[in-house]
Amino acid sequence: MHTGVCYFPEHWPRERWSTDIERMADAGIEYVRMAEFAWNRMEPEPGTYDFEWLAEAVELVGDHGMKAVLCTPTATPPKWLLDEYPSVRRVEADGTPLEFGSRRHYCYNSPIYQRESRRIIERMVERFAGTDHVAGWQTDNEFGCHETVRCYCENCETAFRTWLREDYDDIEALNDKWGNAFWSQEYNSFAEVDLPGRTPANEQQHPSRMLDYMRFASDSVVEYNRLHVDILREADDSWFVTHNFMGDFEPLDAFDVTADLDFASWDSYPTLHAQQASDTPDPASKEAASLQRVGDPDLTGMNHDLYRGASDGAFWVMENQSGDIRAYPYSAEPADGMMRLWAHQAVAHGADTVSYFRWRRCTFGQEQYWGALNNYDGLPDRGVVEAADAAADFDELPDLDATSGDVAIVLDYDSMWALHDNERHTPDFDYWAHMRAYYRALRSRGVTVDVVPTATDFDEYSAVITPSLHLVDDSLASRLAAYAERGGELLLTIRTATKNEYDRFRDELAPGPLSAALGARIVQHESLSPGLETRVSYQGDVYNYRTWGEWIQPEGATVVGQHESGVGASEPAIVRNEHGEGHVAYVGVWPEAALTDALMVALLERADLPVNEQLPDNVRLTERDGYTWVTNFSAEEVSVNPGTGTVVLGEETVPGRDLAVVKGAAHEIEISIKK
Ligand code: GAL
Repeated sequence: MHTGVCYFPEHWPRERWSTDIERMADAGIEYVRMAEFAWNRMEPEPGTYDFEWLAEAVELVGDHGMKAVLCTPTATPPKWLLDEYPSVRRVEADGTPLEFGSRRHYCYNSPIYQRESRRIIERMVERFAGTDHVAGWQTDNEFGCHETVRCYCENCETAFRTWLREDYDDIEALNDKWGNAFWSQEYNSFAEVDLPGRTPANEQQHPSRMLDYMRFASDSVVEYNRLHVDILREADDSWFVTHNFMGDFEPLDAFDVTADLDFASWDSYPTLHAQQASDTPDPASKEAASLQRVGDPDLTGMNHDLYRGASDGAFWVMENQSGDIRAYPYSAEPADGMMRLWAHQAVAHGADTVSYFRWRRCTFGQEQYWGALNNYDGLPDRGVVEAADAAADFDELPDLDATSGDVAIVLDYDSMWALHDNERHTPDFDYWAHMRAYYRALRSRGVTVDVVPTATDFDEYSAVITPSLHLVDDSLASRLAAYAERGGELLLTIRTATKNEYDRFRDELAPGPLSAALGARIVQHESLSPGLETRVSYQGDVYNYRTWGEWIQPEGATVVGQHESGVGASEPAIVRNEHGEGHVAYVGVWPEAALTDALMVALLERADLPVNEQLPDNVRLTERDGYTWVTNFSAEEVSVNPGTGTVVLGEETVPGRDLAVVKGAAHEIEISIKK
């Protein structure tokens, strides 16, 4: 397991580079990422290139026994390029083109921008192919950051029409599949289909059209990324190629992009993400104190698992939070020990390299208030001390494979887009938060969870959960049903298989093509404000749920839970059906924590998987290749009973914001809070 850092040699005088780079090596850093925003320094004027400064930095990195990770610099096209080709700019839904002055001001579908990107990348690879000290590449930087996946320019319009033509062949098919008889929305030709700009009923755009536009926009990034990957691979096949994604980022399908990469990386800012999620306490409340100091371990953890899932193995954290950041709405200093603990958490979840953002705080430009391993004066800040400690820890551990678990949670971007952008039904409906409810319950029992796309081989898992897998076509339905039939434990949740792949209800009740396997139908649904009663019984106990409820009509399935409040009182809410060798269950409410836990324990038991005691809040067990990390994000000291395992890093008493590594299985470990 390795350590890296992001460095911007273009920000500092050359005389400083050797001091910085020497100190990086001393801190145990092995990879230095550079150049993602340095297009202008590499091509100050059109066609005039200067890569020598970067080559010198790469050389210095190599001389100190480290490797460089270079980036294609396309996130920041220089001013001269925009002046010469204003049409490359991204355009907002209201038709406003974006101006120069920050970053990501380009459109993925601009043929000119594609040509210009190809040109700068080709020149870069010409200069660096075969250079020993370059280990690999990051494409661009955070595709989609600042809400830049979707663009409304003329190039996108043309590309969207082509994309639709390829999918539907003729316009009648499109009219039919989308259901354009509604509100007179039928088209006479593909040329008539424009991008979904603002309409009078803007919250009610045609859902099928919106969904296809979102798929198209995500595919546009996939193709643009491929342009980079192809050039890089052709130039030097010893290089790895990755991209740095952003956490649970919505508009871009990370599985699709990663299919073209060697592995995914992501940028982890726990105290920022925790303040933005809808399932964490309001940042201004007292309960949020811990979030502001340590983040939310399950929020960070699920992102690690997502990018491990996308990579189908080990991933990288390309930017790990290295101190305080300019997080909204508050930017507290992380608790002592967090930089080391976050690095360990990443590794426990399958990261092979944890790279920190960034080496030194910058004294100019947009990000002066963002932290770094070193302070403004170039001297060590808290981060570099902790990063060096983590690097030393990693040296004590063997290289480990990225483990996959026995339980999968299916993440489907199409379903999320259909729900979020077209039909949340209530602002409280948050696909990620609902998915995390199940994730949190499993993690609080020490279970390793894989976050997987619908294309995954379900047979690799003992249990599969499909949180709000809203859009299910016939082929996915039969793969899921066949999985249960062969002995799998399939758990469907609210809003699963409600619609077909065109974002349309069916003429039969949900879950449509999964109804036979489930032995039940969904007859009613409702979204519920916090003011309405939301109680449900499950196996003799009464629990709370939130936001969404459905009434289920069994057609052979066993009712295991029913509504205890509201108009639907006594209607079935949770059912389970034997299907072949396995089961299909359906949870028709968004369960609060206690019910989710009960449901997960039952699922683990049905799947014949071990069930740990519930872990204390903010303490997590994470198993990787025969080693288990005890990560203590709480402020309390905890005791670790490693069972037949041995503690190989840390002690059997783990102080707050500290960790231990046990050689042994997670399900054997017992944790208790020290009195
Ligand atoms: C990331 C981004 C970096 C930098 C950083 C600030 O999202 O990739 O370029 O902006 O945030 O901490």
